[in-house]
Amino acid sequence: MPASSRYAVINCGQLVTVAGRARPRVRDELKDVAVVDGGAMIIRNGCISAVGTQSAIQRQIADGDRIIDAGGRVVLPGFVDAHTHAVFAGTRVDEFELRVEGATYEQIAGKGGGIRSTVRKTRAASEDELLESGERYWRWFLRTGTTTVEAKSGYGLSLEDELKLLRVIGRLRYVPTFLGAHEVPDEFRGDTAGYVRLVIEEMLPAVWRARLAEYCDVFCEPTVFDVPSARRILSAAKNLGFQIRIHADQLSRSGGSDLAAEMEATTADHLERIEDSGIEKLARANVQPVLLPACVYTLGCEFAPARKMIDAGLALVLATDFNPGSSPTPSMPFVLSLACTQMRMTPAEAICAATVNAAYSVGRGAEIGSLEPGKRADFVIHDCRDYREIAYFAGIESAESVYIGGELAYSRKSQPCK
Ligand code: NIG
Ligand code: FE
Repeated sequence: MPASSRYAVINCGQLVTVAGRARPRVRDELKDVAVVDGGAMIIRNGCISAVGTQSAIQRQIADGDRIIDAGGRVVLPGFVDAHTHAVFAGTRVDEFELRVEGATYEQIAGKGGGIRSTVRKTRAASEDELLESGERYWRWFLRTGTTTVEAKSGYGLSLEDELKLLRVIGRLRYVPTFLGAHEVPDEFRGDTAGYVRLVIEEMLPAVWRARLAEYCDVFCEPTVFDVPSARRILSAAKNLGFQIRIHADQLSRSGGSDLAAEMEATTADHLERIEDSGIEKLARANVQPVLLPACVYTLGCEFAPARKMIDAGLALVLATDFNPGSSPTPSMPFVLSLACTQMRMTPAEAICAATVNAAYSVGRGAEIGSLEPGKRADFVIHDCRDYREIAYFAGIESAESVYIGGELAYSRKSQPCK
């Protein structure tokens, strides 16, 4: 369907608009997903032009408008996955088995596995090979109802290989983040300072010049990049014009959340080990926490204190962290299920965190994340009658038709939804 065409989406059992103030949602606002029962909307030139009840919209449907009948199903904004490492070569299924048998993520990394094993495979892959596997994973995102993906580099760890990854991220039209400081590569073992210099002096300026990334991220962990190293990298990035995201307080109380507040980062991600004082600092500095419960599920550690963060007024975001090691899932519905069952978020809170708040966290809150006039028509028809079922029925794919910019990007057939 060409984006210029005009059409109406009618007969939405629940049109979950997530409409509201033009900013990320906090505290009780997270509970309001602004459902229109029996809703409809008009799409024009790839954007939403009207949203309302079926009877209100009916009057605005013109002769010649195409009709998409949602059949009483739930319609939601597309999920915005604000933290992934979605371009990589190979898998780490061998390490998965080792972890099942008792080895820890840190032990495997210490022996040269983990991120560094994916780096070796990714360096050996061509740009086109990475694009091919990347496109396969993009189709996985789509079929689970995700329409926008942030993706980090970080499996190249040389100037040339980081640029190669970022070019693929650009070709996939993901929100690009430079994560050159993801791990210390084999050739710099024992010389973290030397690698930090390479990131600051060569990689950051080259990535910025080529306009290949909007954000700079660092894996801030005492055994990888400690707070002083992370601060140096992120200050250099900020001076160039990058915005900041940080892998913080994941495996230890790394001080990453304090650094995120100090640097006025856009997001602090993971936060499984954050302390109460860190939560207060993030709140004061207006940093959005990005929680990654599928990573916790895979590694078997503690879930981040989501309720404390909501109570402190943080504009919480949920994401998959899709990567071949700590979170091999692209599924936001699975993340929603974990957020509800393990972090005690309500389905509505989880949906706000996975749509509108996530959109603001990637700098696109004015364009996507909710179904409101003027926004891009990124929406998903889910095969259910109540939006809470998306978090409740675990392990199935409810997304039936996925639209991006008003165009059908994915569809599968299902029986009439009774
Ligand atoms: O977010 N913690 C660092 N980075 C990823 C893991 C990447 C990998 O294991 O390949 C994460 O969990
Ligand atoms: Fe990550």
